[in-house]
Amino acid sequence: MKTIVITGATAGIGKEVAKVLAQRGFTVISNARNLNKAAQVKQQLVQETGNPNVHFYEGDFSNLESVQQFAQAVAKQFPAVDVLINNAGTWEMERKNSQQGIEMNFAVNHLAPMLLTLLLLPLLKKAPNARIVNTSSGAHRRNILLFDDIEFKNQPYNGVATYSQSKLCNILFSLQLQEELKGTNMTVNTVHPGIVQTDLFKNMETRNWNNTPNAAQGARSALYAALSPQMEGISGKYIYLEQEDPNLSPMATNKQYAQQLWNVSLQYLKNYC
Ligand SMILES: NC(=O)c1ccc[n+]([C@@H]2O[C@H](COP(=O)([O-])OP(=O)(O)OC[C@H]3O[C@@H](n4cnc5c(N)ncnc54)[C@H](OP(=O)(O)O)[C@@H]3O)[C@@H](O)[C@H]2O)c1
Repeated sequence: MKTIVITGATAGIGKEVAKVLAQRGFTVISNARNLNKAAQVKQQLVQETGNPNVHFYEGDFSNLESVQQFAQAVAKQFPAVDVLINNAGTWEMERKNSQQGIEMNFAVNHLAPMLLTLLLLPLLKKAPNARIVNTSSGAHRRNILLFDDIEFKNQPYNGVATYSQSKLCNILFSLQLQEELKGTNMTVNTVHPGIVQTDLFKNMETRNWNNTPNAAQGARSALYAALSPQMEGISGKYIYLEQEDPNLSPMATNKQYAQQLWNVSLQYLKNYC
């Protein structure tokens, strides 16, 4: 049975993904910044699915050291990981910095999953056909990527812009990772969950949720990328629901940007991987 790491399974889309994975009998592993909340979610998932193999380890993605510790905890307990779904994310509307003093949307949404992926590669390599799934968003189409001020330090803070940039980074990360994984048995794809009702929008003015799908609907894209036989051996797709979404912004397919972002990000991560 497969071992699957899904980050951010304490709420929203990740929790729904974890539920389906547990229902199907997989071993499900997630991070949590709040272990009390994780214990409750674990109990609920185990009760609802009858699968006892649901595991949470501490992992605060606003702290690169904590991401490192989460990866170490996984490596200590599990010899291989078949699927890594990078799902945890935040949408900060006001300037906040991570533990390392890095702008929060960039740190949590891009740097943390990149670090986790790099640290889990040895375990993913041990699985027969490992899959990596990165969670982006249609927000990437705002086409914001400021290499000369990626943390928005030299301009007024804009939470929509920094979030959208981080979601473009998710796709560019996948693009470069695909290059790095050439010749291996691992694949990498990116998903858009669709706009669904979750706490992601808690820092914003009240939304009108009429007719907005729930988090279970938002889980479909990641579940398809992670599990579908149609995705076996396939890399480099942008998936929405159960199909490829061809509607990627031009910046999201730019290999030069992908390489540049990779190098910039490695500078941030150099003491952690
Ligand atoms: N909802 C949408 O419409 C939508 C649309 C496009 C893309 N997305 C993407 O989908 C992903 C999941 O979002 P969601 O809508 O399910 O949001 P959510 O309900 O707010 O869930 C986010 C998850 O990430 C975790 N998380 C946030 N910050 C963290 C941190 N610093 N350290 C560790 N864990 C952290 C949360 O943990 P806690 O339980 O501790 O808060 C939670 O488990 C995100 O990457 C988001 O960008 C969502």
